Amino acid sequence: MADAPTIDFAHLPHSAPVPSETRDQALADPGFGTLFTDHMVTIAYDADAGGWHDAKLCAREPIALDPAAAVLHYAQEIFEGMKAYRWDDGSAALFRPEENARRLNDSARRMAMPELPEELFIESIRRLVAQDRAWMPSVEGGSLYLRPFMFATEAFLGVRPAKQYLYCLIASPVGSYFKSGVKPVDVWVSRDHTRAAPGGTGAAKTGGNYAASLVPLAEGTAHGCQQTVFLDALEKKYIEELGGMNLFFAFGDGSVVTPPLTGTILPGITRASLIQMLRDEGLQVREEPYSIDQWHADAEKGDLIETFACGTAAVVTPVGSVNGPDGTFTIGSGGTGQLTQKMRDRLVGIQMGTAPDPHNWVMKLD
Ligand code: PLP
Ligand code: COI
Repeated sequence: MADAPTIDFAHLPHSAPVPSETRDQALADPGFGTLFTDHMVTIAYDADAGGWHDAKLCAREPIALDPAAAVLHYAQEIFEGMKAYRWDDGSAALFRPEENARRLNDSARRMAMPELPEELFIESIRRLVAQDRAWMPSVEGGSLYLRPFMFATEAFLGVRPAKQYLYCLIASPVGSYFKSGVKPVDVWVSRDHTRAAPGGTGAAKTGGNYAASLVPLAEGTAHGCQQTVFLDALEKKYIEELGGMNLFFAFGDGSVVTPPLTGTILPGITRASLIQMLRDEGLQVREEPYSIDQWHADAEKGDLIETFACGTAAVVTPVGSVNGPDGTFTIGSGGTGQLTQKMRDRLVGIQMGTAPDPHNWVMKLD
């Protein structure tokens, strides 16, 4: 565990925030990831000068970097994705933020970066959400997407873990991740490219994994698909995950399968929550390898009735069809399955405070 923080936050609010009418107009249809709030949090790290220091909440603005900053050359960068939800009573809530703090530190260790104390992580979120509360969209399905990230700032071209880093938190009001809303997505199976190999960085939330996913994503887009399915790097046989979401497969016998955490996929917090929620429902969930050929065969036989993707951005999104160089198959009727809808509603209910939260996953911010 990283040491508890002992640093103070400087508070330097924006001198010219976005006017409220402009902001409210933008919030009526926020899209995903293009709109940003007025402020950000930054905390600097120096291994030779006492670790974390200089925490501040300030105007969101460009960051000056030395052209030799290690992140620009050797990609020491990690990030998280989480949301602040605006409840009907006007209050704000987070969903399992301590899990994001833990995963950020798991990613940090894999990328030879310093861990950020969990309390400092949560405090950064509390401060930014409090400051930019007016940016929380009230449209249906809207939330304030929070993007904590950390990268190496040290100007040094030798290859070794950098000594200086910046942790930064920005916020983006969002609606649905997919333009189609919660309609089923068509996915493309990448046969030529893999995302992560055993022993690599697949389980870390680091930018390079996403860079590696872009060519196969573009290939899928060219075939009319919104997401790409990655297969395991060794045999190109077993389903791993989508570029930014985990996958679940639901069968007619009431059982559910999701790929196991073997180090090559991201351990999704939504994934872990859904496994628990499905088990709470009395369903059998197996974390085991599932091959692309079996998926195809089970879907054609009608044994597999639903497939859904899950993640902070996507929540729970049905997969409608699977496409690839070898052809196409449809999942169920190609629509939103019953279990998919039920799990989505239940998860959103917990996050929005309209359904019971038996595992105490919600952290209120007020
Ligand atoms: N897999 C990848 C590659 C992701 O980027 C994400 C999103 O963060 C997920 C899975 C889902 O993770 P979570 O449920 O924690 O958002
Ligand atoms: C998230 O779900 O938070 C992610 O980071 C995935 C990304 C594709 C937006």
